[in-house]
Amino acid sequence: MAVPKEAVWERDPHTAAKHDLLKRYLEAWAPILLSRNDVITYAEGFAGAGVYKHGEPGSPVIAYDVFVNALDRFPKRMRVILMEEDHRRTEELERQMMLARSKHADHIANRLSVDIRQGDFHPALLQKLQSTGALGQPLFVLLDSFGGPDIPYALLRELGRCRSTEVMVTFEPSFLTRFAEKHDGHRQRGDEAFGNQDWQAVFQRPSPQKFAFLREQYRETLRQAGFSHTLYFEMVDEGGRMLYLIFGTQHERGLEKMKDAMWKVDPSYGVRYRDPKDTQQQMLDLELEPNTAPLRRMLRDYIAEAPQGRTVLELQRYALLETVYRPTQVIKVVRQMRDQGIVATEPHAINTKTRVTSAESPPSSGPSAEQGTLW
Ligand SMILES: C[S@@+](CC[C@H](N)C(=O)[O-])C[C@H]1O[C@@H](n2cnc3c(N)ncnc32)[C@H](O)[C@@H]1O
Repeated sequence: MAVPKEAVWERDPHTAAKHDLLKRYLEAWAPILLSRNDVITYAEGFAGAGVYKHGEPGSPVIAYDVFVNALDRFPKRMRVILMEEDHRRTEELERQMMLARSKHADHIANRLSVDIRQGDFHPALLQKLQSTGALGQPLFVLLDSFGGPDIPYALLRELGRCRSTEVMVTFEPSFLTRFAEKHDGHRQRGDEAFGNQDWQAVFQRPSPQKFAFLREQYRETLRQAGFSHTLYFEMVDEGGRMLYLIFGTQHERGLEKMKDAMWKVDPSYGVRYRDPKDTQQQMLDLELEPNTAPLRRMLRDYIAEAPQGRTVLELQRYALLETVYRPTQVIKVVRQMRDQGIVATEPHAINTKTRVTSAESPPSSGPSAEQGTLW
């Protein structure tokens, strides 16, 4: 998708997938945080117009509706802070947010403040978060530019200082791989986004590895900024263009909930969305069952490393922190491995306390090739 010039543009399928992911995550995030805090904040640096060409809601409206539902259950307050540079889009966004508000009862909407600002997101967004006291309280920041890289590391660093902040950044790797090697200004943009120059090793990588290399470098950037857990979700649009959504949190619960959302959007692999019009990907889309073969092999190796075996709880935590998979997928996989004689369980019935050990003579299953699937 080329960067649109109109104030309101057509929503493409991968944007719909992004919205699906955001909605599912916020539906988990808001109630969890509202149950324990009096006020929480949602912010966007690149809010858009709040609506797409055929009336589909933009991310601020989607988030607003989720928050109204959550506030109906909890007598708490929420702030929504939105930045948008384009004045036509800002005006439309104001209209859309008023419309969203008008659909809900005052006793809820009055507890949900919306602050819309027109202008460059940086440093205005950070200043706003600081002056309102939102930094330091539970905060979700969506930085959904057209892919940039647009987000200065300095901003991520400030956000990452606060334990209860989470971020989701849209990152498009092709700008850097195509244009930055021979252009000082573009390279500098990369340096500002990554916070160092390590990413420039991408120029020496073979082409098929370049995007994944930048994605992993960017996750490392988020970790350096303080977000100890990161996940990525990849989206390929109808023209084959790759965009990554990169999520950072300091909470295992946030990690778990984001994985849940990702597996709902991509039931087979949990990490990607392919535009149906991208014909090269259609074969892959035929697979409907979750592909847990890599998880089996990773668990098998992890169990084999410990002579006394591992409990199911340990395996679930390993899956959460070290793989793309969810803790809830572990028991089914352990049961299959036990029934095939690859592992033994004690006791036979499987629950979180069950100990899993390698079977005496496990059937040979070839070398593990799954390290690349680690998130
Ligand atoms: C991908 S769109 C956002 C879409 C929106 N998050 C949604 O999902 O509905 C990116 C938006 O960022 C705005 N934008 C671009 N540069 C900006 C900047 N420096 N500061 C604030 N907004 C900017 C663009 O005008 C555009 O509306």
